[in-house]
Amino acid sequence: MRQTYSRVHQFLHWATVALFLVQLWTYPAIGRTHHAPHYGVPIDPFDLLLHNIHAIAGGMILLFALLRLWIRYRYPITPPTFRHPMFAALSKMVHVALYSTLILLPITGLLKMYIVSSAGPIHVLLTRALYALLIIHLIGVVIHVVLWRDGLLARMGVKLPFQR
Ligand code: HEM
Ligand code: HEM
Repeated sequence: MRQTYSRVHQFLHWATVALFLVQLWTYPAIGRTHHAPHYGVPIDPFDLLLHNIHAIAGGMILLFALLRLWIRYRYPITPPTFRHPMFAALSKMVHVALYSTLILLPITGLLKMYIVSSAGPIHVLLTRALYALLIIHLIGVVIHVVLWRDGLLARMGVKLPFQR
């Protein structure tokens, strides 16, 4: 069993963080492209580009999530240390839910864009679930790094001072 995430897995994690930010940057353009015809104004070509970037970045997030799951299966990693088994269970649940959301978001996005528009509200709902999961994820990271100082971030390639 590996003690830390591989360089490839670390890269895919941080690339997903960057792509998530791209999604937050590009999504307002989707609303603008959809609303423009209703207001009788031409669609801004830059908004159309952002709309396409949203779809491509979403596709990459899906690909990266599947790749990471395959890497995890192929090269299992020891879980980090926790002060209580309850935290270990919570961490596992949040990671499973994060991967599920990262897979379902691009699927519902693709469905909404090309097949059934009723997938739109599900996509939006999933974004809210992702926000909630990310808040828990980040609180978990802060607990490890600030309270327990157990070097958790080093497992994702970030070496911080004052860790045990
Ligand atoms: C993990 C990947 C993705 C994330 C994090 C994401 C994020 C978001 C966010 C934050 C919104 C705005 C929700 C709101 O109105 O408050 C949105 C809307 C939308 N996204 Fe994505 N998205 C992802 C993947 C995709 C993909 C792959 C596609 C299409 C191929 C797509 C198409 C759309 C569409 C069409 C909307 C408008 C939905 C509506 O208003 O009904 N998304 N997305
Ligand atoms: C600055 C923001 C972030 C930090 C500092 C961070 C940090 C970490 C760390 C340290 C781990 C490893 C936990 C362990 O050792 O078990 C991890 C795992 C993970 N992170 Fe993040 N993360 C951030 C943002 C994100 C975002 C935005 C997403 C998704 C969009 C995400 C998805 C995941 C997933 C799915 C795992 C589980 C990896 C696995 O066990 O296969 N993270 N994160």
